[in-house]
Amino acid sequence: ELSGPLVVTIDGPAGAGKSTVAKKLAERLGIRYLDTGAMYRAVALAGHRQGVNWHDNEQVRRLLQSLELHVEQDRIFLNGEDVSDLIRSPEITRETARAADVPLVREFLIAQQRAIAARESLVTEGRDQGTLVFPDARVKFFLVASPEERARRRWRDFKEKGIDIAYEKVLEELLQRDEQDSRRPFGALKKAPDAIEIQTDGLSVDQVVDVLLKHVRSHVGTN
Ligand code: DC
Repeated sequence: ELSGPLVVTIDGPAGAGKSTVAKKLAERLGIRYLDTGAMYRAVALAGHRQGVNWHDNEQVRRLLQSLELHVEQDRIFLNGEDVSDLIRSPEITRETARAADVPLVREFLIAQQRAIAARESLVTEGRDQGTLVFPDARVKFFLVASPEERARRRWRDFKEKGIDIAYEKVLEELLQRDEQDSRRPFGALKKAPDAIEIQTDGLSVDQVVDVLLKHVRSHVGTN
């Protein structure tokens, strides 16, 4: 009943709850979920292991040529190795912010993201999905939450994983990442003019998913 694969984009700052919401929305729609942040993280991990200098295009090009990424719902494989957990460390998170600044890295990953969307319907989540990667996506969302709420969620996640870190420190790093993510010369975090902005402060994951689902259904419709 649909013409071509359905693309739903979800962008927003770190800690806005994009991953959880995108995963559940995809589940409810019965389509694939794509975590593009995980792709940037996997490239950063590979570069970190090889000691790549991100300012050296020749080194970056060689790194990308040696890379084979395979994304499967919420697992990601780097040359066959499941690196889904390794990419979440604070060290790799910092490396990722640097790798994501490199135009060659972005071109490499954008091409893969578009190739996936050409084959199947998806809910894709990141910073530049509705603006740069899929400007013609059927439905676009921009998820926001106050820095305090986002830091609180992050801090709770850390606590659950047994990581002892002060709330103030989490908030500080989050604000720093916001700054980096919005200043990026190419692929910066930005709301697409036609994206629906959803403020998630005080809403549960399921409440947010319900709101998004209603929007998707009204856009996709049956008429
Ligand atoms: O969403 P995340 O925290 O896993 O993202 C990790 C980093 O990758 C973050 O610094 C922003 C960057 N990123 C990006 O530049 N473009 C995307 N589409 C997704 C993530």
